[in-house]
Amino acid sequence: MKNISVATNYADTVLPKLLVEAITAETLTAFDTLTNKTGEGNDFLGWLNLPNDIDNGIIEKINSDIDRLKNKIQKIVVVGIGGSYLGAKAVIEALKYHENHDYPEVIFAGHNLNGSYMAHLLKNLDNTDYAVIVISKSGTTTEPAVAFRLLKSHLENKYGTAEAAQRIIAVTDSSKGTLKNIADEYGYSSYIIPDNVGGRFSVLTPVGLLPIAFAGYDINKLLEGARSMQKICRNVTDLKDNVAMQYAITRHALYTLRYDVEVFVNYLDNLNFVSEWCKQLFGESEGKDGKGIFPSSVSFTTDLHSLGQFIQGGSKILFETVLHVENISDDVVIPSIDGDIDGLNYIAGKSIHEVNKTAEKATIEAHTDGGVPNIIINIPEINEFYLGQLLYMFEFTCGICGYILEVNPFNQPDVEQYKRNMFRLLGKK
Ligand code: PA5
Repeated sequence: MKNISVATNYADTVLPKLLVEAITAETLTAFDTLTNKTGEGNDFLGWLNLPNDIDNGIIEKINSDIDRLKNKIQKIVVVGIGGSYLGAKAVIEALKYHENHDYPEVIFAGHNLNGSYMAHLLKNLDNTDYAVIVISKSGTTTEPAVAFRLLKSHLENKYGTAEAAQRIIAVTDSSKGTLKNIADEYGYSSYIIPDNVGGRFSVLTPVGLLPIAFAGYDINKLLEGARSMQKICRNVTDLKDNVAMQYAITRHALYTLRYDVEVFVNYLDNLNFVSEWCKQLFGESEGKDGKGIFPSSVSFTTDLHSLGQFIQGGSKILFETVLHVENISDDVVIPSIDGDIDGLNYIAGKSIHEVNKTAEKATIEAHTDGGVPNIIINIPEINEFYLGQLLYMFEFTCGICGYILEVNPFNQPDVEQYKRNMFRLLGKK
């Protein structure tokens, strides 16, 4: 079976050999720091072994919650923000074109403070049978707490307190936080987020696994993919086979040459949230102490018609990390028509994905020629196994890159600044 791989040839052209050699040495040191758990933030390295450590009891509990609720709900509302939202959203969106009719529709809430979003959702839920998964490690984050207060009371009004409690599942810290207290008091089915796993590294805990399984996707395959990538990431005997290390070396080498912005590029709209997840993972992990690559994203070919000009011809501060997907599950062949009135017969007989891949190749060449280095992540196809590989690969790269940068990749101290201001302005005691 193929694995996810990386191609750096469209970036290597701008990278001096000596620089790459020096950064390879730094990357190997960072590898030791990460895997020997000797660096800053080493109390948050539980994610490193998650694919193997995940307890079978958790998978069984997830299946039993699904069996208990699946037939009585049409929708499941997943409440959470940041790391308690983006991993599940990324995987569910990525798989959205796969058939899974028997499962409830997953709707997300608590990831914004948009009153209209919530008003619309609550109205929609008046006439829908539903349940709620509320996810918050701290159990005190404002956005999900507000959404959960509203949804809990909507559920209680609709079904009564006892039945509402049967329809709420909480994923939170083992001992502290308001959500933990509410879950205990009402006897919700609950899952623990391990103390040593931070939000943005938690997709392979119940934070991600529970919503993904409710959406009807195979979490065992996701974990299997992550496990196989864990093995690949640990191999430093032959660095060219280690996708995470190759990626880390190239992106850090580009950063030292002042390519300060990484643009995650996907050519399939169902991967938009994989890019969003990457933005949080790298942005919150690296952007501190005045350092870090600014992560951004584009969805091609759509954004070639909006941001393509800037990438091709604007400031030379960008490099692109392209999520290249070799095969897709469903596709459409472009038909030939008599008379060729729209002038498209030259591509008749090709599938849309073939044309998309040609657009991708043409764009990579054009951008590289325009001074924008490209790193290509090759993904054989979009399924649970390869998504598991992909997520783990990005997490591992992120840990390594944080240590090369000499920052603690596992905290986010500066996020508190705006919260302090907001609480003051809102009069929180
Ligand atoms: O990565 C992180 O730690 C953050 O993005 C958190 O996941 C986010 O702030 C949500 O926090 P919580 O799960 O405590 O509600």
